Amino acid sequence: MAKYIVHQSDPLKGEVVISGAKNAVLPLMAAALLSEETCIIRDVPELRDVAFMREILTSLGSEIEELEANTISITTEDILSTEAQFDLVNKMRASILVMGPLLARKGRAKMPLPGGCAIGARPIDLHLKGLEALGAEIIFMDSYVEARAGGQGLIGDTIYLDFPSVGATENIMMAAVLAEGTTYIENAAEEPEIVDLANFLNKMGARIKGAGTDTIKIEGVKRLGGAKHTVIPDRIEAGTFMLAAAISRGHIHISNIVPDHLKPITAKLRECGVRIEVGDEEMIVRGDLGPQSATDIKTLPYPGFPTDIQSPFMAFLTTVEGASTVIETVFENRFMHVSQLRKMGASIETAGNKAIIKGNSNLRGTQVMATDLRAGAALVLAGLVAEGTTEVSEIYHIERGYEKFIEKFRGLGAQIEKIEDC
Ligand code: UD1
Repeated sequence: MAKYIVHQSDPLKGEVVISGAKNAVLPLMAAALLSEETCIIRDVPELRDVAFMREILTSLGSEIEELEANTISITTEDILSTEAQFDLVNKMRASILVMGPLLARKGRAKMPLPGGCAIGARPIDLHLKGLEALGAEIIFMDSYVEARAGGQGLIGDTIYLDFPSVGATENIMMAAVLAEGTTYIENAAEEPEIVDLANFLNKMGARIKGAGTDTIKIEGVKRLGGAKHTVIPDRIEAGTFMLAAAISRGHIHISNIVPDHLKPITAKLRECGVRIEVGDEEMIVRGDLGPQSATDIKTLPYPGFPTDIQSPFMAFLTTVEGASTVIETVFENRFMHVSQLRKMGASIETAGNKAIIKGNSNLRGTQVMATDLRAGAALVLAGLVAEGTTEVSEIYHIERGYEKFIEKFRGLGAQIEKIEDC
């Protein structure tokens, strides 16, 4: 299996350009299933998860072409299958996002229960509850679930989500755009990726208002056309490079960002003593000015602190002055990186969803495992400042979600290489 070998590196310096957002492009690709016309998506990052989504869409009847680097067209003249294949869905939880579009366009969707990062039980009850409220019948069979619309198709309704789930909000929104009448999603997720999806659907002819607030109104339309759209920048990738500047005491210019999307990370890093100058679509992050001290973090749905940055931030907190507390409220099992950071010499105690990190650790390189996508990034960050060499295994997790990961780090002076076969 391939590994990353990370050597203790000098402070990172230089410029990095952020790619299109993984968590935005996957729902956009699924949404293209809603139209028989061509959708063109730009700034599509080259990622394993995008490749999985391409395979899923192709298996359902889409024709996907690469028009130029990072630009694809998706045309789905007809949906040839309403059943997603187990081997594809099992690799990626976001494959559940084809359920809403299939149901909306063909009245049926059969899905194996999805896979993805092992960061908790991650049920899909909220997705199903929403589709059921729109009139679908939900049938469970072994490891499959099928949603079937009645003879009248889907009918708009008011859906209150018990938790503002990102995926459930997206799936319900995509199902509701072709439903009869008006749908309200209450306690909806407010993430920027939801707004991006709503903008794309509206370009296709949907009538969605309120995306980015906790109530989304969707007036159903008869059909959707094609659209051209550019994916928003990846705020989690940007956050990872902000932390790379902080942990390495470096100086990084990060471009192609939406600074508003990064507010919670910016605020917390500033509290720790990191200097951040924010421009229009760029920022300069300086970890090289003055001492860095502890802070407390609690992950929350947007606009709270993102759970996806919790593990990279924790890696940074092991290196600052003082003790920090991290509370994870979004996923129930997102501390798997703790044991790996401890192997590197970090002092972290956990109790339930709370971790206490003693700062000033002298991290040491050793063999560690990327237990999920963001945990993998956290270990690479720790490896940059750990004494000696850190070997990070299971890096396919990292490649699921970071475009040109080691190229970008190397461009900033990081000493990191990939070895293909161990
Ligand atoms: C998305 C992101 C992921 C991010 C997460 C939270 C994508 C492709 N992935 O994942 O990177 O970490 O948002 O910001 O966009 N839940 C239920 N029932 C459901 C659905 C979710 O209980 O039907 C729970 C989950 O188990 C979890 C919490 O809600 O504890 C948040 O999940 P959700 O917001 O749905 O995350 P995803 O859409 O899977």
